[in-house]
Amino acid sequence: MKEAKVTIDRDFSIAETDPRLFGAFVEHLGRCVYGGIYEPGHPTADERGFRRDVLELVRELAPTIIRYPGGNFVSGYNWEDGVGPVENRPRRLDLAWMSTEPNTFGTNEFMDWCQAADVEPMMAVNLGTRGPDDARRLLEYCNFPGGTELSDLRRAHGWEKPHNVRFWCLGNEMDGPWQMETKTAWEYGRIAAEAAKLMKWIDPSIELAACGSSSRNMPTFGSWEDTVLEHSFDHVEYISLHTYLNNYADDTPAFLASPDLMDSFIEEVVAIADAVAARRHSSKRIMLSFDEWNVWYRTRRKNEGRVKLGWPIAPPILEEIYNMQDALAFGGACISLLNHADRIKSACVAQLVNAIAPIMTETGGPAWRQTIFYPFKDMSTLGRGTVLQTKVDSPTYETTYYDPRGTSELRFPLPAVPYLKVSVVHNHDEDCVTIFALNRSLDESLSMKALVRGFDGLKVREAHQLRSDDLMAINTKDAPDTIKPSPLEGVEIRGEQVQARLAPASWNVIRLEVQKH
Ligand code: AHR
Repeated sequence: MKEAKVTIDRDFSIAETDPRLFGAFVEHLGRCVYGGIYEPGHPTADERGFRRDVLELVRELAPTIIRYPGGNFVSGYNWEDGVGPVENRPRRLDLAWMSTEPNTFGTNEFMDWCQAADVEPMMAVNLGTRGPDDARRLLEYCNFPGGTELSDLRRAHGWEKPHNVRFWCLGNEMDGPWQMETKTAWEYGRIAAEAAKLMKWIDPSIELAACGSSSRNMPTFGSWEDTVLEHSFDHVEYISLHTYLNNYADDTPAFLASPDLMDSFIEEVVAIADAVAARRHSSKRIMLSFDEWNVWYRTRRKNEGRVKLGWPIAPPILEEIYNMQDALAFGGACISLLNHADRIKSACVAQLVNAIAPIMTETGGPAWRQTIFYPFKDMSTLGRGTVLQTKVDSPTYETTYYDPRGTSELRFPLPAVPYLKVSVVHNHDEDCVTIFALNRSLDESLSMKALVRGFDGLKVREAHQLRSDDLMAINTKDAPDTIKPSPLEGVEIRGEQVQARLAPASWNVIRLEVQKH
């Protein structure tokens, strides 16, 4: 059995987790909206067409903020198509996903759904086919109380009170050639800054995220952030990051190591943002909005997974079925996010339902939890509080992560990946310290000894694990509970020492009760 040591101290913290760190994403993509959160006529649908079975799972998953309406979709979206009497709304071709968009669900329905799900809305504006003028018009429609054409239009549509959306994304992945009206960093930086100015003149209380690189692999990564922030630094609070972990090479050790590259990505974006600040002699710190992250590869590069011919409405695309090892890589990503709580102030798992999602549904049928549901739920429900610094002393392994970029191949050598990846959060209100621990060894248990300093009266409140002898195991409609958490037995406490045996290839959560200070 391998052994790893972790040391934490009550006084050595990283930061308080922002509630927005536990967000998700709903895009007009495949069956995420239609047949996902919204399905009039479904046996569980309420009078507005919201699936109650999905709402129940969303509440259990506990996301805090939901990004909408895209994604690639937003770069061709006319928000006016999705408001007003449903019978007057146009059908349009959506060039992002080669589908027909019926527009029967739009901004106001989304706001109502957010209320029903008890989450904050995060809106993205179209800076692809449209621009700053459209962005300020949508903001006026959403946030202005009344007495102007657009705010009165909202009221006439039946939403008397403003939606008061606080968090706005200035476009989506504008560096990507797949995006409608891709831009250079210079072009986008200018447009983002101008859109931000107009929007803040209407509502100075909003918070804005500029698009960073759509992945660390983009050839423009680094210079993109630098140029975009050079233009928009004074006008925005956040720069975005996107990452989809993959196992294209069918190499589990490399896949499980890939969250460590997310750590590097985060630290690099922080460095670039702070370099822009330094050049301006500014003490302002741009925070990070990790507004798309997940595991995604089966339905990513192959056309049949991404597009269905004939411009269908809500086609079943990007319906990635997650197995046990995907949940482990996903858990590693959760740990990366928690451990950067000082700079990541919002993050959205992409997406929420059906399309690369923790929740799956059958149109007209049931809803169930995918394997990745569980690490997200653990992070969102138990990750509230102060993230503590961890000193980890773990045996390591060597691997190389592979990530295709277009036709070229990228290989990232990882010479020393610790088998143990860990994050620790102290929740003061609940007098609880939670250890999130991933054992990346595929064949050996890991004896984890954690020295938990500065807390009195340590006791195990609860401990569970997610594991399976079959790393390919999945949850399905007919077998929805194949992968689910089970108790983690045998956690021992001696004074400040917590000792646990982590099974090979396992995600573990240990909740310790501590005495009030
Ligand atoms: O989440 C799926 C897609 O991935 C989003 O629409 C896009 O922003 C990203 O490329």
